Amino acid sequence: MPESGVCQDVAMSMRLERRVAIVTGGANGLGEAISRKFAAEGAVVVIADVDEVAMEHVADELGVEAQGCDVSDRDSVQALVDGAVERHGRLDIMVANAGIANSPSYLDIDDEFWGRMLEVNLTGVFLCNQIAARHMVARGGGGVLLNTSSILGAEGHPQTPAYAASKAGVISLTRSGAMALGQFGIRVNAVGPGYMKTRMTEGLRAVPELEKGMAEMIPLNHFGEPGDIADAAVFLASDEASYITGHTLFVDGGWLTHHLPARTEEQEDIRIRAQAEAEAR
Ligand code: NAI
Repeated sequence: MPESGVCQDVAMSMRLERRVAIVTGGANGLGEAISRKFAAEGAVVVIADVDEVAMEHVADELGVEAQGCDVSDRDSVQALVDGAVERHGRLDIMVANAGIANSPSYLDIDDEFWGRMLEVNLTGVFLCNQIAARHMVARGGGGVLLNTSSILGAEGHPQTPAYAASKAGVISLTRSGAMALGQFGIRVNAVGPGYMKTRMTEGLRAVPELEKGMAEMIPLNHFGEPGDIADAAVFLASDEASYITGHTLFVDGGWLTHHLPARTEEQEDIRIRAQAEAEAR
């Protein structure tokens, strides 16, 4: 029992204390932010990525482990999970976050591109989920699978159809996993990021007019920070979310609320004046 409120606060702030967590795609962007926040919450983190140089750099900085892994390859994911279990005795949390984006236009997508997108973004999530779940079930149950989807998985996108389809698949897989694995005490959820400030959106943010135009379409009027996703990931991985499963939590500044740009104050003033004039006539 903590003796004072201060001790209690400190104890409560370590929401993932001693949980063993793998974060795929942890070398960059959202995965890096999740790894950072998980480590700060007391988790034993293993970063897994194909970008081994960046991965070692982040792991060194955070004082966590790193293991090279291609999530689209079953043997590679098996070795990742086996390695973590061997070193730490168990695996509590699998964050299947690694993903690729970009796309040729709809009419130019070939089979090779389509296959690779699905292999990394959807098959990769399935392999991480299934192999981690097999271990969790064999250990007696309990555990958390947390996937990274996207707003595009909820709404589609004309320029990145393969990516959007892969992310819609992640939402479906998250629901199916929750249904199949709930009986073993394993929770399966996803985060659905909106437009976040990582290298994946660098192209959108490179030109100020383009960035401003995009931001105006987001109800909160700005791109999200990687830490916004990490906060949601900590919550969903922690016991605070112990009755939440099969859910995709969209962290998107309100993007999915509508498909119209939010009105600026100036536009709203014009509308009010026009309305008043119409009523006065
Ligand atoms: P990022 O490109 O900065 O990071 C992705 C990481 O995944 C990289 O470290 C990369 O090396 C790794 N990776 C790629 N293929 C891999 C493979 N086969 N095996 C293992 N690791 C692999 O991108 P970001 O923005 O951090 O994206 C993270 C996740 O969030 C992705 O699944 C992405 O689709 C999703 N997302 C990102 C959004 C954004 O606005 N940045 C919006 C919605 C979803």
